[in-house]
Amino acid sequence: MTAIQINNLSYQYPTSDFKLSINQLNMTENLVAIAGQNGAGKSTLFKLLTGLVQLQAGEIQINQHDLAGLTPEDRLKTIGIVFQDPSSQLFNATVQQEVAWSLSQTGTDAAVVAEKVDQVLTTVGLIDSKDKNPFDLSMPEKKLLSIATVLAVDPQIYLFDEPMISLDWPSQQLVTRIMQQLAHEDHQVITITHDMDWLAATFSKVYVLTEGKVSFEGTPEAFFGESGLAQETGLLTPRIMTIAQEVLGDSRVYLTPEDYWEKKHTS
Ligand SMILES: Nc1ncnc2c1ncn2[C@@H]1O[C@H](COP(=O)(O)OP(=O)(O)OP(=O)(O)O)[C@@H](O)[C@H]1O
Ligand SMILES: [Mg+2]
Repeated sequence: MTAIQINNLSYQYPTSDFKLSINQLNMTENLVAIAGQNGAGKSTLFKLLTGLVQLQAGEIQINQHDLAGLTPEDRLKTIGIVFQDPSSQLFNATVQQEVAWSLSQTGTDAAVVAEKVDQVLTTVGLIDSKDKNPFDLSMPEKKLLSIATVLAVDPQIYLFDEPMISLDWPSQQLVTRIMQQLAHEDHQVITITHDMDWLAATFSKVYVLTEGKVSFEGTPEAFFGESGLAQETGLLTPRIMTIAQEVLGDSRVYLTPEDYWEKKHTS
């Protein structure tokens, strides 16, 4: 189990009024979603977790070790991130080199690099594109390649910033399966998403950020079940729930069509 403990965290960009302020947060679940309106501070939290920006106050601990005390190499092995825009992560001449470069940053033994590269490119379905230039890949393929670069390093914690954007349905299913497999292998997978259908169907724990503060933590069932909370925090309810409410006047929580079917037939 991985535990991320945040205490008295505060961060403000030098050039904006926005402030991220988290008094106490303890993330221990393997599959975690982070939701919230545009500008709520979700990506800023990821930047702090990966060290792209430095904490101004407070601390972040991973399994009771201060994140700030890790060497750059240990940090890469602890937390990996897949950015929202994969192009910002890719710069090598070939798909294969892109993944190998990631591995070289963590001092991986040269003898195992080729094997590892093939393994992760197979996982994301890009093994036949290994000699292509990353910039000749389609947007979903670029995203899958950026996921492969993190899978190769195999950090303890995976951060995904809006991974579903620009992915077609098969790629969305593939990425969901990869995340579930990682969680099953006891990695921690933390995902920022605006897709409430996916969140409700896939995650057992959700943290909601509102204007730089954590406004909710709990299960999707509890979040969508608290009357008016989704609306207050600028989020939609799952489509099945909206339809049940608007068409049938049924205001119960339904996370997925299957959930609707089950609840309708057991009560
Ligand atoms: N480099 C920066 N310099 C100054 N202000 C920034 C910077 N990056 C983000 N901000 C501001 O900080 C606030 C939080 O941004 P952040 O990117 O964390 O939001 P978010 O929750 O990820 O939003 P979105 O859903 O749109 O991705 C916003 O008001 C944003 O304009
Ligand atoms: Mg963001």
